[in-house]
Amino acid sequence: MSIETALVIGSGTMGRGIAQVAATAGLTTYVYDANADQVASALDGIGKSLSKLVEKGKVPADVADGAKSRLKKAASLDDVDWSKVGIVIEAIYENFDAKTTLYGELQKRMTPQTILASNTSSISITKLAAATDRPTKFIGMHFFNPVPLMSLVEVIRGIETDDATIEIVESLAKKMGKNPLRCNDMPGFVSNRVLMPLINEAAFALMENVADATTIDEIMKQGCNFPMGPLTLADFIGVDVCLNILEVLHRDLGDPKFRPCPLLRKMVDAGHNGRKSGRGFHVYSK
Ligand code: 3HC
Repeated sequence: MSIETALVIGSGTMGRGIAQVAATAGLTTYVYDANADQVASALDGIGKSLSKLVEKGKVPADVADGAKSRLKKAASLDDVDWSKVGIVIEAIYENFDAKTTLYGELQKRMTPQTILASNTSSISITKLAAATDRPTKFIGMHFFNPVPLMSLVEVIRGIETDDATIEIVESLAKKMGKNPLRCNDMPGFVSNRVLMPLINEAAFALMENVADATTIDEIMKQGCNFPMGPLTLADFIGVDVCLNILEVLHRDLGDPKFRPCPLLRKMVDAGHNGRKSGRGFHVYSK
């Protein structure tokens, strides 16, 4: 089964990136957000991102124009032609109840064949799947920020996800210009289980005054060839998002090695959530 139409739910950083690569790959792509005003700004942001990629010669101008024409703003879930939607990719905020309430609404509209994928970075795919009417067609499709530039999609198999769903999602990811890599459903999957302790340790190094934030980042960039230092990356992902993922790893794996650094908690309490709030480990102009 080849998927020609997708519905992306959530128009934050990840949702808009996913919608962009889906539309660029030729899919008719609906974008829905409970906050309808945000969809207009997401489509505007996608337009700017596509223009930048055209300027840099990474996307041909006619492909960018085609992508823009395939993006459809859904003001409500009833604006969607559900008979055509082959996959719903959910990219809303990381909250189990919010996600499963949304799935309840989707289930009233999706055809029995529609695949439901979540871009969750840390919630169990198996647990989310169990709250739906289609655990065999539920899957993790974990994209990386910035989605238009990052090649990986982590494809996460829940305990009941069937082989056909995995194969369809892998070929869709390839069509979107991504490289899908499979893993099983465990807290943090592979990417965040490995990345978050690194960011956490950099925060501990800062808290213990091993070096200042810029020096920690430069040491990891120049010494380990990281494209971004771990503290800059935490700001880029969102310090609040990093803390939330570490809390899930700590709670669900029960291992003290995932204990979130108290500095992360203090920063989140102060609203120093990284680039999006203008201040995190570093300061950003808006
Ligand atoms: N669309 C178009 N252009 C974009 C863009 C987007 N969405 N996002 C950034 N760019 C542009 C920038 O504006 C900048 O443009 P400029 O050159 O005109 O200023 C350019 O891309 C950046 O290009 P550079 O040449 O400076 O940088 P690189 O090409 O070397 O790499 C990068 C940029 C890919 C972001 C690199 O820094 C990198 O790999 N960083 C690490 C990113 C990473 O680790 N992401 C994963 C986070 S974890 C995650 O997402 C999972 C979640 O669950 C937490």
